[in-house]
Amino acid sequence: MRIGIAIATMLFGTAPVLAQTTDAPALPLATAASGPRLVAADLRDGMDLSGPWHYSIDPFRAGIAGFHGETPDRGQLRYQDVDVRREMARDTRTLYEFDLARSPVTTLPSSWLTEAPELRHYQGLMWYQRTFPAPTQRKGRYFLRFGAANYATRVYLNGRPLGRHEGGFTPFAFEVTQWLRDGENQITIGVDSQATEATVPPPVTDWENYGGVTRPVRLIATPDTYVDDAWVRLTRDGRLAVDAHLDGAGTAGRAVHLRIAALGLDLAGKTDATGNWRATVAAPRGLMRWSPEHPKLYDVTIDAGEDQWRDRIGFRTIEVRGADILLNGRPVFLRGISLHEEELGTDPTRAITPAAARALLGEIKDGLHGNFVRLAHYPHSEVMTRTADELGLIVWSEVPVYWRVAWSNPDTLATARNMLAENILRDRNRAAIAIWSVANETPVTEARNTFLHTLVSDVRKLDDSRLVSAALLVERSPDKLDMTLADPLADALDVLAINTYNGWYTADRLSDLPGSVWHVPANKPLVFSEFGADAKAGFHDLAGPQKFSEEFQADYYRQTLRMADRLPTLRGMSPWILKDFRSPRRQNPDFQQGWNRKGLISETGQRKIAFGVLADYYRAKEAAPAGER
Ligand code: GCU
Repeated sequence: MRIGIAIATMLFGTAPVLAQTTDAPALPLATAASGPRLVAADLRDGMDLSGPWHYSIDPFRAGIAGFHGETPDRGQLRYQDVDVRREMARDTRTLYEFDLARSPVTTLPSSWLTEAPELRHYQGLMWYQRTFPAPTQRKGRYFLRFGAANYATRVYLNGRPLGRHEGGFTPFAFEVTQWLRDGENQITIGVDSQATEATVPPPVTDWENYGGVTRPVRLIATPDTYVDDAWVRLTRDGRLAVDAHLDGAGTAGRAVHLRIAALGLDLAGKTDATGNWRATVAAPRGLMRWSPEHPKLYDVTIDAGEDQWRDRIGFRTIEVRGADILLNGRPVFLRGISLHEEELGTDPTRAITPAAARALLGEIKDGLHGNFVRLAHYPHSEVMTRTADELGLIVWSEVPVYWRVAWSNPDTLATARNMLAENILRDRNRAAIAIWSVANETPVTEARNTFLHTLVSDVRKLDDSRLVSAALLVERSPDKLDMTLADPLADALDVLAINTYNGWYTADRLSDLPGSVWHVPANKPLVFSEFGADAKAGFHDLAGPQKFSEEFQADYYRQTLRMADRLPTLRGMSPWILKDFRSPRRQNPDFQQGWNRKGLISETGQRKIAFGVLADYYRAKEAAPAGER
């Protein structure tokens, strides 16, 4: 049994059947269970390959399969390590129908949608290629790590296939120690953005599908034996816990040290026969717990032989008790808003830099007086989750199990399970993350329930320190504002979450919203994971006011907040959404022009009237005595 499958079996209890391509050679699939994890690799030394890359579209995927589906001939194999122009000049019988080294140049990370007008709506396979100089004094091990590429990715080095990955929002890596050569090395990436009925998400969503290499590619260096995975956290009984895994030679019985210099902590240990180390120690006196008000982060290292793993980690606890959410043992109300991964500006390319993340999260923290953000509908960049750690925003993190997923397809389940595992393993050390969400607005069927219960169970196995939720739909009486949460998945969740749009997608009078009746389980905290209304910034209507006016959106918020205040178990909200975002579904030429306008700020950051309504509401909650928030 392949090691990867064995680990997957250990990790999940069942060996996931992962999507296999139909073409040859079948590239090995990088997954959380089979590939290097390289947790906190964004902090490791390495070479950043961001910058100019050649690109070349391949809409008929000729670089992967010939016109009868067979392995393509050399004239189509984009990843060959060859100088096309020189080869064709040398041998007049030679034919190549590509030449990546002389194709147009783009800047990665980015989506190709913003690269050229003719690519604005391209969905399909794109090839990227560049060369880079190998480190001269090479020792230890080398990995090519991708922050994310949307959606299905194939990677080749110096004409050699390394492997493939499926999923547009989580990191993956390939070891290249033995394939690096002195001097220039050629890396070729094939990224296919095309969603299918089997992908996660499926083709039908409500956001732009940004195909491309949307997060950095880095060449990471490690010692021969290194810390591949580490999770350091505060447990609910007040102890520091560490789980670490070494990869490489001689990982068994290796001396290791967990150190937090600021706390004077040096916990010594030894790995077991499989290179794992698990230990706990009473939390050092003087440990300052992380919170939105005091987002304290500590420099944490794990020393293992030649390797020093490091991360910046906040320590806090999150739990539910009855209908309360407790942060560090005290009830908290989540004053939040939802966010897509899209930077401010009129032509976003989903390139989230630290400055872009701060610009967005700062609007929530400082502008709205928020303490919470729902990073919808997929794992956001690690830059975003690290920024939430630094600024002090509690995070809802989510996988794109969205609307109509192929619930009965084992490949789809394997993809979702792997994406969830990759997300959790990447971010388990982020104090900001409090909630793992396994779905959004998925219609209730037996197959869907089985699928989602599997994901909930996976979360429990990977991370018992956080809460599980999912954005659910409610049933409504046909002729009145009377809603019932009757989703069988609710029993498996720690936090109940509801998306509701009464008054926007319905003909309800806004003035009737506060009188809405909600039937929800009383024994669990409830979060409104979505509510919202569109407004075109600058469009005002003082008469009606009609939909898409700022006045309508502001009144919608006033009335919906009045409704929210009447729900006894409501413990938070993440209205839809901070910023207008691109969505091909939204084509009203007067107001939308391909944008979903439910943002409280426009795509350029212009605040709408409703922004002030929510900010006032959160400011009052922030100022209220603890028991009245
Ligand atoms: C849905 C969905 C969002 C969508 C929003 C809307 O609830 O979860 O992804 O953008 O409603 O209709 O604007």
